[in-house]
Parts: sequence; structure tokens; C-alpha cells
Amino acid sequence: MLNVFKKVVPTQIAKLEPFGVEIAIEKGERLLSAALRQGLDWPHRCKVGSCGTCKAVLISGEIKSQLDFAYVLTDKEIDEGYILACQSMLKSDISVRVVQRKEMK
Ligand code: FES
Repeated sequence: MLNVFKKVVPTQIAKLEPFGVEIAIEKGERLLSAALRQGLDWPHRCKVGSCGTCKAVLISGEIKSQLDFAYVLTDKEIDEGYILACQSMLKSDISVRVVQRKEMK
């Protein structure tokens, strides 16, 4: 029997630049996890907020960080809107610029 009462999980949208694609983020899901689940090649290593490889620039919208980004990002990066995708949950639809491997210092 088909379950027509299947619980609908609210999703939010993250628009990813420079790819120009939008991905769905499920409630409670982190930005990096959602991107990887949907097959995107987002730079990452640790997935626990310690390496900084997954950083991105928040262009618009709001996120909830799961740890203090200041442990990994510089004050200048934080002022410029950098976030860690592996430690970011969405509070609204967002737009972010993914930092490419060639941009890494
Ligand atoms: S993957 Fe290492 S900080 Fe996000």
C-alpha cells in the first residue's frame, strides 16, 4: 500500500556560485553534506570544522553555525562573510560562493 501520508521534510534552497546551481537542504542537514549528497564536487577534507577546506562566502541569507568559525577562519575572512559549509545549517534560503581549490592559500 502506498503511504500517502509520508511526512514532508521542509527544505531550503542554497544557490551555489560560480556553478549557478541550486541544491535542496533538508531540515537539520549541513550545507556540505547536502552538496555531496547531490553529487557536487565541493572541496572538503575533515567534515568536522577543523581544516577550512570547505569554506565559502555567504552572499545572502542566514545560516546557523555549529561551531565558532573563529577557530579556523581569520578575522578578515569572517568579516568578508566566509563560512564553513560542513558546520553550516540554513536558517533561510541562501546564496554562497564556493571557494575553489585553486583559490586556497
Ligand atoms: S571540511 Fe574541514 S572544515 Fe569543513
